[in-house]
Amino acid sequence: MKHLESREMETELFKITDENRNRPDALAALKKAGRILRDGGLVAFPTETVYGLGGDALNPESSRKIYAAKGRPSDNPLIVHICRWEDLAPIVREIPETARKLGAAFWPGPLTMILEKSDKVPKETTGGLSTVAVRMPSDRTALSLIREAGGYVAAPSANASGRPSPTLAKHVKEDLSGKIEMILDGGQACIGLESTIVDLTEAVPTILRPGYITKEMLSGILGEVETDRAILPEGSDAPPKAPGMKYRHYAPKAELTIIAGDEAAVVKRINELVQKAEGKGLRSGVIATDATAGSYGTALVKSAGDRAKEEEAARELYRILREFDGENVDVIYSEAFEENGFGQAVMNRLLKAAGHRMEYVR
Ligand code: TXA
Ligand code: MG
Repeated sequence: MKHLESREMETELFKITDENRNRPDALAALKKAGRILRDGGLVAFPTETVYGLGGDALNPESSRKIYAAKGRPSDNPLIVHICRWEDLAPIVREIPETARKLGAAFWPGPLTMILEKSDKVPKETTGGLSTVAVRMPSDRTALSLIREAGGYVAAPSANASGRPSPTLAKHVKEDLSGKIEMILDGGQACIGLESTIVDLTEAVPTILRPGYITKEMLSGILGEVETDRAILPEGSDAPPKAPGMKYRHYAPKAELTIIAGDEAAVVKRINELVQKAEGKGLRSGVIATDATAGSYGTALVKSAGDRAKEEEAARELYRILREFDGENVDVIYSEAFEENGFGQAVMNRLLKAAGHRMEYVR
C-alpha cells in the first residue's frame, strides 16, 4: 500500500476575477477563506505585488504555521496586512507624521512601513522584534479577504523558502499544495516584485527593500530618505536591517550570471559564454529582452519584455526563473537592466538570484 503523508491536507483552489467577484459563489469562497483564517488556518491570496501566504496576524499559532508551511526561519518577521486606515492605530505604539503622509500618498498599494508595535501583535509574528511591518495592499481580493478575516492578516510571499516569490496561483500550488487550506487565484500579479519596505522608526526614513515605490517617490513626500547600505552594491558586507534580506533568496537551480554593458557587447559576450558551455556539454538559458531574444542561437531564450519598460521585466522575472528550474538548463545568463527608478528593484532581485555574479563588458 502507498504510504500517505499524514500531515498533508486537501488544498482548495478558487478563482476570483473581476467578472465573478460579486457572484454568490465568489462571495461564499471569500467568506470561507476568511473563516479559515479566523479559525487559525492558512490561505494564499493574490496581491498586486506577489501572492501572500496569509494567517491571522494576532494569533501566534497561525504565525508558527506560516513558518512551518514555508520552511522559513522563525526569526524572519512577517508583514501584517490591513484593509482600513483605522486598523493601523491598534497595532502600533504611535502613528508618526511620516506614516500619515506615506499612507495618504501610497496606501492602498505596494508600500510596507516599519513602525514600533503595540502589545496586540504577538512576537511570533514579528520574529521577536519590537517593530512591526504593515502594508495595505490594493488588490481587491486581498482587501476583501482581510476584511473577512477580521482585519489583520500576516503574509509573507507564498513561496517555499528559497524559491522565487509566486506571481501566479500555479506557483503557489507548486510550493504549498497539501500544506495550506486554500488558495485564491487572482491571475497574474500585476507588479511582480515584493513591496518597497521603509523603516519609519529611524531618525531618517530608510528603505530596507526597493520596490515599485521608489526612493524618488518617497522623498517627494518626506524629503530626506536613506537606503539601507546593506542593499546597495557597495555595502553588501553590512548586515541588512530587514532580517529577510540576509537569507539566500530567489535563487534558480542553475547558476545565474548577469552580463552588463552596451547591448551589442552583451549579446556578443553571452553568445561566447553559451558556446563555451555547449563545449562542456552544458545547456544554457538566456534572459533577454524583446529586441535581443532572436540573437542567441541554440540557447533556451526567455524575453523579459521591452528593455525600455522595467515594469515588464519586474512582472516576468520570477516566472522566468521558475520556468528555468523546470527546464533542465545548467547555466543561465541574463542581460542586465537599467538601475534607475523601479529598475533598482528589478536589479536588486536579479543580483540576489545570481548570488551577485555580474560581469561588465564593453
Ligand atoms: O509585497 C510584499 O511585501 C509581499 C506581499 C505578500 O505583501 N510580502 C512579502 O513578505 O514580501 P516577505 O515575508 O516575503 O518579506 C517581508 C520582508 C522580510 O525581508 C522581512 O525580514 C522584512 O520584510 N520585515 C518584516 N518585518 C520587519 C521588521 N519589523 N523590521 C525589519 N524588517 C522586517
Ligand atoms: Mg519572501
